[in-house]
Amino acid sequence: MHFLHLSDTHIRNDYTTNSFTRPIFSDEFNPTDSFKKTLDHINRNAKETETHYEFALITGDLVHEGDPTDYQLFKSIWKEKMGDLPYFFCRGNHDRRQAFATGMAVSVNEDGDYIDQTYYQGLRIITLDSAQDGGHEGVISKRQLDQLKEWLAEPAKKGTIVLLHHPLAWEESEIKTEVPTDFEETIENSDILGIFVGHIHQGSLAYYGNKLQTMVEAISFGVDEFPNKSVFTNRTGYNSCTISEGHLFIHSVVMSPSQTVIGGCKKPVTENI
Ligand SMILES: [Fe+2]
Repeated sequence: MHFLHLSDTHIRNDYTTNSFTRPIFSDEFNPTDSFKKTLDHINRNAKETETHYEFALITGDLVHEGDPTDYQLFKSIWKEKMGDLPYFFCRGNHDRRQAFATGMAVSVNEDGDYIDQTYYQGLRIITLDSAQDGGHEGVISKRQLDQLKEWLAEPAKKGTIVLLHHPLAWEESEIKTEVPTDFEETIENSDILGIFVGHIHQGSLAYYGNKLQTMVEAISFGVDEFPNKSVFTNRTGYNSCTISEGHLFIHSVVMSPSQTVIGGCKKPVTENI
């Protein structure tokens, strides 16, 4: 089973009307173009490699501080490029609660959080909502943990994948997501195959509760972290993922800066090159 992991698209109809997006995006480099180019690349690559993607995960910050019309733009780009390919998504810290719920036509729980459990051909896909009001980093509520425990009590035929915006594990303790007691233990004692996250805008792998946490590069822009600053770059990318016989495989694709072919070899490789 092949699927895509994309994140942090940060789409807006107008990047000049927001103080964060105005100075860093231009006609030459902006999230809308990156999103379209990435989806074109995915389609081209899938054709060439004869890969059939069954669905996509999009781990939050779908739009940047936008209103429902920005979500309409997001959805129209997806429809134009990907047709009816299903996608499962979570809310990021730049997705405003009401605009997100209206724009993506989803219902929320008593706290206004968007959480969900759905199945795709025996694989369970659980969405958590780690975005809080007025805070940049992630928080998982006790209510979400209770719901998660209820869902995970029954194992899924092909296992479970979890998506949320913020990383559960991160080296800088002030960045990792704040979780209630028992949360990590609940993840550990479950049929979860992988945890899919975004937020930091850089590809990375980590373990949380003995499960693989995979963070994908952003579609919008890259971030490099230094002790006293974060630097924004034009690095963008996505992950091509496969679940085969209960194992999860992840292939990272860098979109920008563009890659150049410098050589190649025929397969199978018959000598040690
Ligand atoms: Fe983001």
